[in-house]
Amino acid sequence: MNGEFSTLLADIKEQILYLQELGAESFNVELSEFDASKFGTQNAAIKNHNKQSAISQEKLERFVPTDFELPKIETAKPKISGSEGISSRRSLLESTKLSRLPSLPKRNSFAAKITDEPASESKMPKTIVTEETPGLFGDVKPTLPEAGETIEDIRLDIGNCTRCPLHEGRTKIVHSTGNLRADLMFVGEAPGADEDAQGVPFVGRSGQLLNKIIESIGLKREDVFVGNINRCRPPGNRAPTLPEAKTCKPFLLREIAVVRPKVIVVLGNTACQNLLETKVGISKLRGEFQDYFGVKVMPTFHPAYLLRDPSKKREVWEDMKKVRDELNKLQG
Ligand code: URA
Repeated sequence: MNGEFSTLLADIKEQILYLQELGAESFNVELSEFDASKFGTQNAAIKNHNKQSAISQEKLERFVPTDFELPKIETAKPKISGSEGISSRRSLLESTKLSRLPSLPKRNSFAAKITDEPASESKMPKTIVTEETPGLFGDVKPTLPEAGETIEDIRLDIGNCTRCPLHEGRTKIVHSTGNLRADLMFVGEAPGADEDAQGVPFVGRSGQLLNKIIESIGLKREDVFVGNINRCRPPGNRAPTLPEAKTCKPFLLREIAVVRPKVIVVLGNTACQNLLETKVGISKLRGEFQDYFGVKVMPTFHPAYLLRDPSKKREVWEDMKKVRDELNKLQG
């Protein structure tokens, strides 16, 4: 009898382990459906019980509780919400392999060729054209270079900038703002009238909508980092020209290397095409992650476009869900 029950228990244990492997967290055993004869026809005691009536529920429950919780398997990922989530994600990031890699120049894993930007901006990551050298175990993916500077250093370098003609019409330089340890960054085009007056990006109508977009994935504006390709307002809210964008963008790229977000959302054509150095339009690229030195880049429509055509909000919502899921995944 004891031997039979040991075998029965061993079977049950095995089944539980199997169910755990399949991801079951709890289950119900309906004893009214229990057929003891299935558990060993050789077991005379059970057969006897079965003949007389059903096996005693009280007795069986000592071995197989009718409703019991399997031990919790640690699968839950911390949810992104508020600055607490952000800081815990950051500490997770800091323990990842990527963040512990030595700086690119030290690793010497691919040759760097500096393109034609001014000498004072030679530290900028995206302007480094990389030629990958295969590593010992296959391809080495280029990752963000170590910044080796602070946001303040970059501000000082920008100074009272007159590098491009846009400075002539500006009221204030609109620097990037937000959480310097953000996992998520948004990049827009250039300041509008409200931003120009206040010196803060995305504070006008587009900014209000951007805040709602951020909140739609459970974050707050202060959790993220927000910047533009250009820091001075173009006249009549036109898009910056390519030379204007090329002059200003390197400062943004340096900020990306300092903040090191996990995901960047590029808002609209100007941000998308300049960050990714592509001519492909936003309608083609939106909704699919692109790569910027190992950082996931999600192109989506600019909030100003959504104000003109609210029917496009659905697509932005779809894109933002992917961003949220990616952040949760990278966090785990
Ligand atoms: N549009 C942008 O692209 N950036 C801003 O900061 C405001 C509006």
